[in-house]
Amino acid sequence: MSAITKQKYRGVYHFSPQAKWMNDPNGMVFFEGEYHLFFQHHPGGMTMGSMHWGHAVSKDLITWEELPIALFPDELGMIFSGSAVVDWNNTTGFFEDKPGLVAIFTHHLDMPEGKPAVQRQSLAYSHDNGRTWTKYEGNPVLEHDTFIDFRDPKVFWHQETKQWVMIVACGQTVCLYHSPDLIHWTFASEFGEGTGSHDGVWECPDLFPLHVDGDTANTKWVMLVSIGADPAFVEGSRTQYFTGDFDGAVFTPDEDSEHVRWLDYGRDNYAGVSWSDVPEEDGRRLFIGWMSNWMYARQTPAEEFRGAMTLPRELYLESRQGKILLVQKPVNELEVVRTPVLSLKDVTVQEINASLADLQLDAYEIAARFTRGMSAGFKVRAGAGEQTVIGIDAKAEELYVDRQTSGRLDFHEWFPGRHSAELQAPGEINDLRIFVDRTSVEVFSNGGQAVITDLIFPKPESAGVAAFAENEETPFLSLEIYNLNLPAADGDNQQSEG
Ligand code: FRU
Repeated sequence: MSAITKQKYRGVYHFSPQAKWMNDPNGMVFFEGEYHLFFQHHPGGMTMGSMHWGHAVSKDLITWEELPIALFPDELGMIFSGSAVVDWNNTTGFFEDKPGLVAIFTHHLDMPEGKPAVQRQSLAYSHDNGRTWTKYEGNPVLEHDTFIDFRDPKVFWHQETKQWVMIVACGQTVCLYHSPDLIHWTFASEFGEGTGSHDGVWECPDLFPLHVDGDTANTKWVMLVSIGADPAFVEGSRTQYFTGDFDGAVFTPDEDSEHVRWLDYGRDNYAGVSWSDVPEEDGRRLFIGWMSNWMYARQTPAEEFRGAMTLPRELYLESRQGKILLVQKPVNELEVVRTPVLSLKDVTVQEINASLADLQLDAYEIAARFTRGMSAGFKVRAGAGEQTVIGIDAKAEELYVDRQTSGRLDFHEWFPGRHSAELQAPGEINDLRIFVDRTSVEVFSNGGQAVITDLIFPKPESAGVAAFAENEETPFLSLEIYNLNLPAADGDNQQSEG
């Protein structure tokens, strides 16, 4: 096993930088057979500082190769979050020979004498698949004289109106702009006042179309808005979503968007962004988030590096009982790399635990089904005095993750806790898909409607796993366990050692 994969806090199948601080995913884009993951990176420290865009690439969304830093701070400031597009038709004029990548990011400039920092949107382009970048000489391309917080541009091509659209956070709202060439931007609309959660500053917005229930005649637009941690709220930072319509200029929310809807009911899925893996709209809508929370992100146990991304997920819209719900599923690529450990049908909890008794598992997936009305679940990363409890409470009709005894808790008073997600319009069978890694659990239930992503910091030797059920007589319908201790984790292609 390589030195880097043996590191105590490094996930086996989650991306983390080789060294130092990482936060938001940026510029997610698929181009010429490669997925690009850029990320907020401070290469000089273990907390946020002088921000750069780090860079990694993957062919399968599971194994990532970290490349040299893509974007460095300059006289216009640090490089904050943003997005990347392929300029297929050379609308910018940057690409004479063949299409290339354009990054649209926030330049964040600190000002002297306690004056507020200035945030403006800028461009950089690459002719060699993101390996080297040139900043556009006319930067910044978009500034604003009212908003102090004006950041995190997400840009996409709007097929119907044949123009680029930018959604960007403006304090406690989002602003929409359009452009023919990524350089000249015209204000279109503002959204968010009096709607959704305002329990923190609005950040990292996203806007994308999805077909409801896969029906190509029924398209809805989804807006994601992350909200920053405010010390008044125990949840810290989290991501809300709206559904509605979008005509290229104005987003009109559905009526049932009025109450707040969360993308994830855990504490550690923030600043996430979506992208598509084919240029046309009908590719998969993929999503990845930063697996932390500004509440305690700077204090989590860490040695060589700090920060990890969530699993890549695929997003869907489903209509259930008159509601349109955003549903997440881990990408199918995970099913290719996993190896079966156990597969049982119609088994009681005692029979399951007899099979699990001798297992020590580090990085793995549990897939279980049991009848609705049965409260049951699993204890994972269990060892002396430590366990993370994951289950369904049938009476409350909720999914929960309890990390109150999950391992290290002492770094922040609000880290310990039990987090729950209501099962909305549940079916007759409860489903649980649990992804366990060295410092995280990601749980998908009710067909991906109820999702909880939580960091945990157990001892490496806490590797036990057990099932539990309220009524020990009622059998689980099925249970499968898969090892995700990827062969790559024994070599070095999960994280290249550079
Ligand atoms: C969200 C965020 C963004 C900002 C970036 C700075 O986590 O605060 O709004 O661009 O992080 O690293």
